[in-house]
This record gives sequence, C-alpha cells and structure tokens, in this order.
Amino acid sequence: MKNVVILGSSGSIGRNALKVLSDFKERFSVFGLSVHSNVGLLEEQIPRFGPKMAVITDQESFERFHRNHDTEILFGTDGLKKLCSHPKVDLVINALVGSVGLLPSLQTLESGKTLAIANKESLVMAGKLLIDKAKEKGAEILPIDSEHSAIKQCLLSGKREEVKRLILTASGGPFLSRSREDLKEITVEQALSHPTWEMGKKITIDSATLMNKGLEVIEAHWLFGIPADRISVLIHPQSIIHSMVEFVDGSVIAQMSVPDMKLPIQYALFYPQRVISNNTSLDLAKAGKLTFLEPDDEKFPCLGIAYHALKMGGTAPAVLNAANEVAVQAFLNHGVSFTGIQKIVQETLSRHKRKLAPKFDDIIDADAWARQTAGELCLNAEMKR
Ligand SMILES: NC(=O)c1ccc[n+]([C@@H]2O[C@H](COP(=O)([O-])OP(=O)(O)OC[C@H]3O[C@@H](n4cnc5c(N)ncnc54)[C@H](OP(=O)(O)O)[C@@H]3O)[C@@H](O)[C@H]2O)c1
Repeated sequence: MKNVVILGSSGSIGRNALKVLSDFKERFSVFGLSVHSNVGLLEEQIPRFGPKMAVITDQESFERFHRNHDTEILFGTDGLKKLCSHPKVDLVINALVGSVGLLPSLQTLESGKTLAIANKESLVMAGKLLIDKAKEKGAEILPIDSEHSAIKQCLLSGKREEVKRLILTASGGPFLSRSREDLKEITVEQALSHPTWEMGKKITIDSATLMNKGLEVIEAHWLFGIPADRISVLIHPQSIIHSMVEFVDGSVIAQMSVPDMKLPIQYALFYPQRVISNNTSLDLAKAGKLTFLEPDDEKFPCLGIAYHALKMGGTAPAVLNAANEVAVQAFLNHGVSFTGIQKIVQETLSRHKRKLAPKFDDIIDADAWARQTAGELCLNAEMKR
C-alpha cells in the first residue's frame, strides 16, 4: 500500500488522478490533497478519500473552509512543504499549475520521495536543480505529461546511446488552419476550446500558442538528458500518437492510445509495472487517418522562442516561463491580444541578462524580474493589437 499526495486535487490532472486512485484502492491510499481556492470540491473529496491532511493555499478560501472532519487542514506554502515531506508519504503527484509548483517539487525530492510530475513549469524553471536533487537523494521523477510518459515508454526499446532523437507530438491546438492575420482577433473563448484534450485554462492557452510544446521540449531535455537539437516537434492533430523515439538504426518507436490523461497517470503510479485498467482500448480502424505536419514557426513563434531559451540556458527558461504566465493571465483577463502573448514573452526574454549555472535564489530572482518586466509590457498598447 503506497501513500499518495495529490497537489492540485481540484484541477483537471488532480481530478483524473483521484479517478485512477479510486480504481486501485487496494494499492494506494490518498494521504493528502491540496487545493488553492476550490474548497467546495475539497469538501466533497475529503469524505470520499479520507486524507490525513489537506492544504488550502488561498488565504480567503482557507478562512471560509468548514472544518467538520478528522483531516488536518494546513495553510499555504508551509502546508505544502509539510505535506510533501511527511515521513508516511511515498509518492507526490504535483498537479499544480505554474511556478508555484517549484517549491513542492524540490521539497518532495529533498525528502527522497517519488515525484510524479505534471507541473512542467517547475522543470522548465529549474530542471537542472530538480534532476541534481533527485540524483543526490536517490529519488525518482516520473512524468505525467502524456508526451513524456510516451517517450519514457518508447525509450525501453533501446539503449541510451542508441537514441537518435525524441519526437514530441502536438495536436496543434484549435488554430492550426487559421491565417496569421486571423490570430490577432482570437478571443479568450475561442482559445479555451481545445480540439482533443480537456485541461485547465493556462495549459489550454499554452496549447493554442504552441508554448505548451516549447515548455515540453525543455521538460524533455531535463527528464531524458537529450540536447535541444535532438528533440523535434511534429504536429499530429488526432492526438493518438503521444510521442516517438527514433533510434540510430532508423527505427521509430511510437506510443499510442486514446487521448486520456488517466493512462499516463496510471503508468507513473505503477511504474515500472503495467496493470490492467478500465481505459478505453484504441481502435485504429475507427480512429481513421493519422496525419502529421511540421509546426509553422512563423504563425506560432512561441515554440521557437522556447527552443531559444533552452539554448540560452541558465535563468532564460525561468524567464520564459514567468513572462508566459503573466502574458497568458493578461490574455485571459482580456488585457492583451492572443498574439500579444508571444510579443511579451519574446521582449522580456530579449531584455534579460541571463545568469549561467543559477542557484535556487537566482531562479527566484529571475522569475520575479520577468514578472515585473512582462507586467509592464502588458500595459503597452502594442500588446493589445
Ligand atoms: N490538464 C491536462 O490534461 C494536463 C496534461 C499534461 C500536463 N498538465 C500540466 O499539469 C499542471 C496542472 O494542469 P491542470 O490542467 O490540471 O490545471 P488546472 O485544472 O488549472 O488545475 C490547477 C490546480 O492548481 C491549483 N492552483 C492554482 N493556482 C494555485 C496557486 N497559486 N497555489 C497553489 N495551487 C494553485 C488549482 O487550485 P484551485 O482550482 O482550487 O484554485 C488546481 O488544483 C500544469 O502544469 C499543466 O501544464 C496538464
């Protein structure tokens, strides 16, 4: 019986993780949960899963939460820290959105526990620190992102030195066939309707700009130790092939399934075992055509900007991530245009004085600087066009 914590249990990944855990009650116990503001859902989850601890990170939500059960309720970052490092915890699913995921990721590894990571932002900001910490503490990092779960599975087909390149697939988002000119007029509602996946707002916008794929390239670099020039991206609108690995002999191994995040979550929970699941079988005859095309860098520049940040190295990916978080939030608040997101990220990155081999504090400083800079850029009329 493993004790599992889900950070972000009110989110899309968090709720899917709880569905998987409900199917395997004899193997996993839900030790802890965290939500930011959705305390209504936490009130439903507590009697259902009986966690020993729950954390609420939003102050006002913490104050209005009804305490009428045995679960210990903790507050804020200190609460997350206490939960991730609790001696009884075996595995932490980090399903928080954004840079707030970094500290809990580090804390989990510092405590030598397995980190099942959906929160790609922490790997983008501080991939080297997290990988080094995992090595130092003998802790494992298991990907939940479907692309990285796919690559982990494909890599089992050969030796590390036999890998030629990683091929991350991307649905291409809802605006694949729109013209560049059209993109300026995209509304928040249009950007929030993803063709193949149901996800939180931030990742849905990131998928529409292709920044999500850029963040995933950086994530793949750190998780699998492959340089940027050996990681490519291929648009595959049906989201059936979740990613591929090409080996030196020319063989390409792909991982396929119906698009459903419960599968990569289950794979991480049971890794390295495979167990029978209730997930829908893939019927390729019904799936029909599988199509592929190169990403359009001119129409979706965020992918290229992310590659650039990875090649710059040091604090650059943390700046990319922070500027993107600010710009996406501004777009969701109707403060900047869809194409403004990419301009804000690019401009913030170009003003950044990168620091190589950053320590934790350098990353936090770069993140704060990028938020301030991107916030100022959001007020510029150019970003609304
Ligand atoms: N959704 C997917 O299919 C998918 C696939 C691959 C990777 N991912 C990655 O998984 C992560 C989560 O994505 P998601 O789609 O599940 O997002 P989501 O639905 O927006 O959920 C985000 C979770 O984080 C919590 N949260 C938000 N702001 C917070 C803060 N300031 N402090 C602490 N907690 C906070 C939310 O709490 P409240 O709701 O209570 O406010 C919620 O539980 C992201 O990094 C995303 O890129 C998602």
